[in-house]
Amino acid sequence: MAHIIVVGGGPGGYPAAIRAAQLGAQVTLIEKSELGGTCLNRGCIPTKALLQAAKTYENAKEAKNFGINCQGVSLEFPKVMERKDKVVKQLVGGLGGIVKSYAIKVVKGTGSLTGPKSVKVVETGEEIKGDKIIIATGSVPVKIPIEGIELPGVITSDEALFLEKLPKSILIIGGGVIGLEFAQLLHKMEVKVTVVEMLPQILPLEDTEIAMGLDALLKKEGIEIFTDSTVKKITAKGNEKVVSFDTKQGPQERAVELVLVAVGRAPHTKDLNADKIGIKMEKGRILVNEKMETNVPDVYAIGDVIGGYMLAHVATAEGECAAQNAVGKSAKINYRSVPRCVYTSPEVASVGLSEKEAKEKYGQIKIGKFPFVGVGKALVINETAGMVKIITDTKYGEILGVMILGPHATDLIAELGLAIQMEATFEDIAHTIHAHPTISESVMEAALDVDGLAIHMPRKRK
Ligand code: NAI
Repeated sequence: MAHIIVVGGGPGGYPAAIRAAQLGAQVTLIEKSELGGTCLNRGCIPTKALLQAAKTYENAKEAKNFGINCQGVSLEFPKVMERKDKVVKQLVGGLGGIVKSYAIKVVKGTGSLTGPKSVKVVETGEEIKGDKIIIATGSVPVKIPIEGIELPGVITSDEALFLEKLPKSILIIGGGVIGLEFAQLLHKMEVKVTVVEMLPQILPLEDTEIAMGLDALLKKEGIEIFTDSTVKKITAKGNEKVVSFDTKQGPQERAVELVLVAVGRAPHTKDLNADKIGIKMEKGRILVNEKMETNVPDVYAIGDVIGGYMLAHVATAEGECAAQNAVGKSAKINYRSVPRCVYTSPEVASVGLSEKEAKEKYGQIKIGKFPFVGVGKALVINETAGMVKIITDTKYGEILGVMILGPHATDLIAELGLAIQMEATFEDIAHTIHAHPTISESVMEAALDVDGLAIHMPRKRK
């Protein structure tokens, strides 16, 4: 039985450990903190728990739209945080049980490579020998080199998730996924929010029409957003931080209680010793091939530490791939249909190519769109903003990319991921009967619209 050592127990490492054990390997999992990594403890799950609390608060305040009078609605921030912690604790506990059921040995400590088949636990000095190693050490928030970045009150998402009280105001540097999710959850909890994004659009990698759509909705809600703007410095003034930034319209300043830096994450290789055992790296990330193999035989790397998508579900897929190869099966990673999700409200989800990428790659394309305002169920739940946009090639009608801005976008995208994976055409989706009344009808209608055949859309003028 092969002995596989997994370094890091996040959404890359723990599925790798479980899959290796399922396939008959003896597995040791080294984790310095809690099982579940960033995703479960400082990322996906706690932020979604807070977003849900913010939305519930808003729903209670706006229940009058449904003819329900709620008086005296208030938010108790410590209780909101308590619930978030409870959700995390339950998931981490459950994960511990699953890992134990597969007889995976969990060693608490920081793993440091001493050779291609051995890892030392930094805190105890114990050396663990195995046949193969899977590196899954994740990522850490990036800080930018500007004056004032080290001031107290300038935080990253790691600290933002453990605030003891809500600030009155916050400036968020970075209009990416983390920046926008925090912007909205804090705004819904009545914090004054300003977002400063360096590039011309928020969510710079997403389809421009969708990103601009979200930008407009967030501004309408009352969030201040500056794009094309660069933060110059942060200075302390009493209890406040004064953030100076340049915009296209000239210099600006905002005095705020907290500054959240959300400008991306970088591979985490501190203490790992990867370069010392000859593992090839580039700009801090470990290089791997499509089997997740590094250049050192029997050493694999997966998840945020290899760069690329930096998404929990991608790390999981890579972990499963590495585990299969490590036990002697043959697997290759397939990034064809990676869903990208942003949990604002309305949500954003996309898969495949954006309109710009599709045009660059295919020249001619066809587009079908359907707005949620035309979907009965969206009206029922009072969430009609946004649309579904489907991009196809002109030859076969194959679906190349889909973007959704709207209710339950992050769940709707699964159907389209499968479609892209199976090289389905827009007609495959259009001719699949979707239940009525559901939000998913929007997808069918957008597919029908590729040929101008959406039912709940007025005739288009030629
Ligand atoms: P990001 O790469 O999504 O966004 C960072 C943003 O900051 C970009 O828009 C970038 O242009 C901007 N930026 C960079 N330097 C700047 C500067 N000096 N001034 C102003 N703006 C600047 O990174 P983010 O949001 O920190 O997230 C990190 C990783 O975590 C990403 O890979 C993301 O996909 C992942 N993540 C995924 C989530 C999800 O799937 N829902 C939720 C949260 C994070």
